[in-house]
Amino acid sequence: MPTLLTNISSLVTCNSNGSVKKSGTEMQNIGETRNGALLFDTEIIWIGNSTEALAYCNQNNLTPTIIDCTGKTVLPGFVDSHTHIVFAGSRAEEFARRLRGVSYQQIASEGGGILRTMNAVRVASQIDIEAMGRKLALSAMNYGTTTIEIKSGYGLTTESELKLLRAIKTLRMELPIRIISTFLGAHDLPPEFRSRRNEYIDTICNEMIPIVAEEHLAEFCDVFTDTGYFTIPESERILETAIEAGLRVKVHADELSSFGAAEMAAHMNAVSADHLLFISDVGIEQMRKSGTIATLLPGTAYTLKLPFAPARKMIERGLAVALATDCNPGSCFMENMQMVLSLACTMGGMTVEEAISAATINGAAALGISSETGSLEIGKSADFIIADCKDYAELVYHFGTNQVGEVWIRGNRVV
Ligand code: NIG
Ligand code: FE
Repeated sequence: MPTLLTNISSLVTCNSNGSVKKSGTEMQNIGETRNGALLFDTEIIWIGNSTEALAYCNQNNLTPTIIDCTGKTVLPGFVDSHTHIVFAGSRAEEFARRLRGVSYQQIASEGGGILRTMNAVRVASQIDIEAMGRKLALSAMNYGTTTIEIKSGYGLTTESELKLLRAIKTLRMELPIRIISTFLGAHDLPPEFRSRRNEYIDTICNEMIPIVAEEHLAEFCDVFTDTGYFTIPESERILETAIEAGLRVKVHADELSSFGAAEMAAHMNAVSADHLLFISDVGIEQMRKSGTIATLLPGTAYTLKLPFAPARKMIERGLAVALATDCNPGSCFMENMQMVLSLACTMGGMTVEEAISAATINGAAALGISSETGSLEIGKSADFIIADCKDYAELVYHFGTNQVGEVWIRGNRVV
């Protein structure tokens, strides 16, 4: 039996009119209906004005369960297209050191940072890793996330990378939230390969990627292309191998320095390039030409006290911008997409409408699933949020609190 939401004060569809994403000025258009109605089972059946909803149901002999949404905002569930929530341990101590002036890179060069989490992951059981991922994924869902991408990348041996990917697979089968998996074996160079970089890259290409592809453990392959991590030629080799194995690609690009990683992502036809705090003008232009989505992670800039990515310039030059949390134990321990909207608007220069498009339809596009979720359109999955505010702008205006009242995924109420 279908369900009908009626009297929705603010119904935001993020309808992309057949396009897979919203680029540039199109991000401003979020398709709001006042006094809207939404009819769905597992998929969306009909969208319109409340005054026409009952007539539609009568004509089609439907007797839906009715939920009154007076004073509420309904919008597509958030798609958090970039997280690292399967890990072990804590880095609170490093956070405290950074507040006393030590840089992220300095801590990493002393064997802290990603390698510290790597040590914790290598000795943790898959069950413990699943417990961490489960807790964070459910918390994200409580804040309105209906799809979450999760990366490996804290194991850095074949065995422990597979342990992380298998933990993601367990969560995907168990939890109601939609999960997309990314292999990030090239997150950092593990210490045992310090003097033989190429051998680690050989291991990724000849050992890890074939198993990941064979066992369907990931949809995407990602590389951390930056100063102190992987070079452009190394990244290209890994991504080319992944593409040949049937994976799609993403890049951690220009997060810590202007490295030419956005340009590389464009020329590799990456689905998204993420971070981009130090992107060049050439990088922006090349990403526009290749249609690569710019995924911005304002929580990371905030935590690392770095300048925010140039969102305004990107949108004005026609890029499709997505927003995500980057939830991870080092550079941004935060899983709340409402907070991401607040940071993107107040600190990052985006409008409320642009931020909503970026956190929904463009997040779905960054995962290659925008024909299925990310907007409220007939035939798409019924993945949406009912928020306790009568206007969508309040989602950003009233920050630091959870305004999500209900979360529905595939037509089931999960929060
Ligand atoms: O996205 N940039 C690379 N990886 C993470 C940080 C990982 C960590 O510090 O543990 C990021 O910022
Ligand atoms: Fe990241």
